[in-house]
Amino acid sequence: MRILVPGGAGFIGSNFVHTLHHERPSWEVTVLDAMTYAANPATVAGFPTGTEVVAGSITDATLVDRLVRSHEVVVNFAAESHNDAALASPEPFVQTNVVGTFTLLEACRSHGARFHHVSTDEVFGDLPLGTPEAFTEATPLRPSSPYSATKAGGDVLVGAWARSFGVQATVSRCSNNFGPFQHVEKFIPRQITTLLDGGRPQVYGTGANVRDWIHVDDHNSAVLALLDQGVPGKAYLIGARCEKSNLDVVRTLLELFGLAPDFYDLVADRPGHDLRYAIDPSLLEGDTGWAPAHTDFHSALKETVDWYRDNEQWWRPTKAATEEFYRSRA
Ligand code: NAD
Ligand code: DAU
Repeated sequence: MRILVPGGAGFIGSNFVHTLHHERPSWEVTVLDAMTYAANPATVAGFPTGTEVVAGSITDATLVDRLVRSHEVVVNFAAESHNDAALASPEPFVQTNVVGTFTLLEACRSHGARFHHVSTDEVFGDLPLGTPEAFTEATPLRPSSPYSATKAGGDVLVGAWARSFGVQATVSRCSNNFGPFQHVEKFIPRQITTLLDGGRPQVYGTGANVRDWIHVDDHNSAVLALLDQGVPGKAYLIGARCEKSNLDVVRTLLELFGLAPDFYDLVADRPGHDLRYAIDPSLLEGDTGWAPAHTDFHSALKETVDWYRDNEQWWRPTKAATEEFYRSRA
């Protein structure tokens, strides 16, 4: 099997490359990545031997067509992925998340490739705080941010190409991931690396916003299950039933660092900040038998802290520019 992994140099995609190496050792893996600021050359340097890496954009129709022609399966992780970056500069999000998805779909249509599109629970908008309500496959798309609107745009293209052109395409919408190789712009790695530098975590608003956390390897095992058993034309939710407020997460980190529970700063809120996400993964569990392996959030978070402590050479080159970005918009 030859598999093309657009976005394979980013956080979730690179972990997926390692998952494939362990779970599908005979598969030939090609990564296509534009190597934006979100990709880390050190991640690529650590890929398993035999992984082919092509530098280029999913919006480049000629390149995409040539690559898809020689692969049976495409699993798309390529995206502009950060809400705060979209608020500062939305145009690349439209290009990559909408036009790039269209470009991949057209190539899959031409060459009959199986397509799996990795998406997000943010396409559903948000839920009220303090309710038991959760997103299901029946929840209507109601994106509320520039990032999630462009992800929803890509998702609806996938559904239309499956129905109208018969493209063998599935979509998965996952909740917030954490684990190794995540860019320091994101909440958990930002706070871990700030704490490693002796600084105070920076929490938006009151810290009451809730996210539903899943370890990146559990996300990727679900993607593999959907590649095997997902029904073309369907969109599935992936989540591990692990809702935490941002303050809960920060206090767990502070405990892991042996610091006082009030060692953080509340800072200006994100404009339009989604209140709460929660996933009901029953359909995925029932259809595929998938279950998450990293169900102890505390110990998975500790392993993630240890990874950043042990891999400073991986994150250090990006830390100063990331903090400069946050300072410039404060
Ligand atoms: P990331 O930003 O870490 O990685 C994205 C990768 O895509 C980078 O390597 C980047 O260089 C590449 N890329 C960007 N534009 C490209 C283009 N035009 N052509 C080719 N490559 C391009 O993102 P991530 O966190 O790994 O997210 C991967 C996917 O998973 C995204 O679709 C995101 O919406 C989705 N997702 C992320 C999370 C999360 O918590 N991080 C949760 C659910 C879904
Ligand atoms: O739900 C899935 C989504 O999760 C993915 O689609 C996105 O690609 C991914 O980035 C993530 O989006 P969020 O906006 O939820 O993640 P982020 O890490 O940016 O922020 C998580 C929460 O923490 C959010 O409520 C904002 C808050 N936050 C974030 C940062 C960077 C802070 O309080 N302080 C911070 O410094």
